[in-house]
Amino acid sequence: MVQTHGSSQTGAQAVSAELALGDRAASGSLTEIPILDLGDFLAGKPGAHDATAAQLRWALENIGFFYVRGHGIAESMIERIFAETRRFHGQPDDEKMKIHLNSSNRGYMPLRGHAQRHSALNKNPKPNENESFFAKREQDPNDPAVKAGKPFRGPNQWPDDLPGFRETVLDYHGTMSELAYRMLPLYARSLGLADDHFKPAFGKGGEITVRMIHYPQATEEHVRENVFGTAAHTDRNLFTILAPGDTPGLQIMMPGGQWLEAPLVPGTFVVNAGDTLRRWTNDRYLSTPHRVLNVSGRDRYSVAFFVATDFEAMIECLPTCQSAERPALYPPVLYETMFTEFVSANYANQQAGHAKIA
Ligand SMILES: [Fe+2]
Repeated sequence: MVQTHGSSQTGAQAVSAELALGDRAASGSLTEIPILDLGDFLAGKPGAHDATAAQLRWALENIGFFYVRGHGIAESMIERIFAETRRFHGQPDDEKMKIHLNSSNRGYMPLRGHAQRHSALNKNPKPNENESFFAKREQDPNDPAVKAGKPFRGPNQWPDDLPGFRETVLDYHGTMSELAYRMLPLYARSLGLADDHFKPAFGKGGEITVRMIHYPQATEEHVRENVFGTAAHTDRNLFTILAPGDTPGLQIMMPGGQWLEAPLVPGTFVVNAGDTLRRWTNDRYLSTPHRVLNVSGRDRYSVAFFVATDFEAMIECLPTCQSAERPALYPPVLYETMFTEFVSANYANQQAGHAKIA
């Protein structure tokens, strides 16, 4: 049974290794985001792996988004990362600018530092009204790609004067990474693959990013001028686990094309699939547009956790997602290539000849 916010429905089907491309639900009429409870699966209860994988498959074939509860992440951990998010963004701008995004996209991105400039979803792009702090796991100095100084292997940047900040961010990164790794067999089972199918793509731990975001209140002019906290886009990574905080603002494009403001559901994260998963599944799983508009009347803080494979992973159509009738739509591509194309198109600090917006 897949529960949805405010109601329930029987959308889950038995997991099958067969292609199910033709059986997308009458999804144009869907108006709610399903809630998956991971508790039984994470506890190893008999039958829970199959049942939860079926729910995940239904959600990703029909909506591209779901909530998770029973995820095992302590509320205190989430409270700590939000406290640090507020503390970081509460610093003076010149303090934050000391760790302006480096060439590896780690550090501080000021307001209007990012626009969905090359998104087909956004024909008149304006810079986004959010400021963000980005960090990944600390680099392994013995990684050959780090030693060679390859692009995007640079270090994290930490504020000088926030004792405990670095420790909390890395603790959150490590704890959430464990949850993400434990979810990989669900994705695999949902696609009729061996449970450890995605493990090699995370051999180095994956390119996993914490983004701690502050959305100031939207002004009337912003609303009038179509300026968003984050304009409509799809995520580039494999999947995203969002802690949405206590203030609404996330909007999801539902299958019928209408925007749904994602309700706040206590004790849950919001999870969505990204373009990597869509491509890997031959468009079987959706990478759904979403955006943020903060008209709540107060500042909004959220913490996004972007789960991506190692740069070295080859994203090649999965064997259970192609057939004679539906051959692979995309050639194989290194994740690093996908990532490079995305950041060079969208981040001001990565655009040669483009003035930094700060
Ligand atoms: Fe996103």
